[in-house]
Amino acid sequence: MSPLIAPELSELSAAMPPRAPEGHVLISFESVTKRYADGTVAVDNLSLEIPAGQTMVLVGPSGCGKTTSLRMINRLIEPSSGRILLDGSDITRSNPDQLRRGIGYVIQQSGLFPHRTIEDNIATVPLLIGWGKGKSRGRARELMQLVGLDPALARRYPHQLSGGQQQRVGVARALAADPPVLLMDEPFSAVDPIVRANLQDELIRLQASLHKTIVLVTHDVEEAIKVGDQVAVFRPGGVIAQIDTPQQLLGSPADAYVENFLGFDRGIRRLSFLAASGLELDDTAVVAQDLPAARALQVARQAGASWLLVLDTDRRPRGWAAADELASLRAGARTGEARLLPYGHTFGVRTDSLRAALDATVLSPTGHAAGVDDDGRVVGITSYERLRAAIQAADMAAGTAADTAVDPAASTAAGPGRGSVPDRAGQAAR
Ligand SMILES: Nc1ncnc2c1ncn2[C@@H]1O[C@H](COP(=O)(O)OP(=O)(O)OP(=O)(O)O)[C@@H](O)[C@H]1O
Ligand SMILES: [Mg+2]
Repeated sequence: MSPLIAPELSELSAAMPPRAPEGHVLISFESVTKRYADGTVAVDNLSLEIPAGQTMVLVGPSGCGKTTSLRMINRLIEPSSGRILLDGSDITRSNPDQLRRGIGYVIQQSGLFPHRTIEDNIATVPLLIGWGKGKSRGRARELMQLVGLDPALARRYPHQLSGGQQQRVGVARALAADPPVLLMDEPFSAVDPIVRANLQDELIRLQASLHKTIVLVTHDVEEAIKVGDQVAVFRPGGVIAQIDTPQQLLGSPADAYVENFLGFDRGIRRLSFLAASGLELDDTAVVAQDLPAARALQVARQAGASWLLVLDTDRRPRGWAAADELASLRAGARTGEARLLPYGHTFGVRTDSLRAALDATVLSPTGHAAGVDDDGRVVGITSYERLRAAIQAADMAAGTAADTAVDPAASTAAGPGRGSVPDRAGQAAR
């Protein structure tokens, strides 16, 4: 029997196998069908391979069999036919209690024990496997920190926490015994959109260091695309329509059902997975503020530009000067004396995506946006033509996208919602 399935109870962490190499298939569904007693076929002949250390998202409309599929992994539901293998071993041969100790489980609205304190909720499994109160509570405190919970909340009860805090406790509890596998069923659906976005970001951050094998169920395709390394799109009737990386899904939906499910503007959303570093920037229409205005006007004419981006002495952007305005300045004036239009958003050439670059360009009053280095210094400016060329080049290079991925170690210059990719760069490149 796999050591993943039957860890030594008293030494759970020590007994965990060395982490399976990434890419190795940890969980596989082999032609799994679930037919409930009333004849409902919830999952129909499902075959699915889930690689170790990755996040697999099951997404689809209500009733398509997502929860049923998930709960078959920890044997809360048994398949009617087919097999599920965990690290190569058929899970039906494992003891369900032991199996579940190697699999964290997070559900909607956290499912916390109402009469236990937060720390005792988190310490549930460690207590169960005999770690003792002191060690278990120590572990609970560690996990509270890991999931971003204030340790002052340790002695409270679940009803004294916000919905978002409760979900964090649910995640901490699932991680308590350091299980290699985490199952999450609509973990963020009960909280408001802002809290949900924060929790998704936290999950991505946690996963970047923990490398758990996560199976996450959601009906929210945006969530699937944001947190998934791989996304399995279900059709009604428990059948998979497509399994792919988010980038592949957005770029090449298998059919009209998937395309419709992905929704509007998938072409733009796909750009989140392409690095802005693939964009060639132009610095011919970029000038220093102390350049004589007459000279700047020549630069504008040579570049055929009606606007120049004016930089301060540190090469940081100050704003846009209109060529016409430069022509009207007094003799001997410096470029920085011109009336400047705000430069709007910049984007990080190393850390941001083409989506952020496009967004900045669309929002710019001049139709050009400034790309900056990690210190905020201007590297050059965009144009729609250059963006088009970068997208085309990225498409041509599809399959070798790793070359253009954003550096995952790079700073997160762009916040969520701006199409930033830093934390997702590894996934995006795959
Ligand atoms: N115990 C049961 N007995 C009979 N049918 C069931 C049972 N549990 C679920 N079903 C049915 O199986 C199908 C799949 O249910 P499941 O809970 O897996 O869907 P889901 O994709 O998780 O949906 P949702 O997004 O609404 O949570 C549905 O038609 C549901 O009504
Ligand atoms: Mg469900």
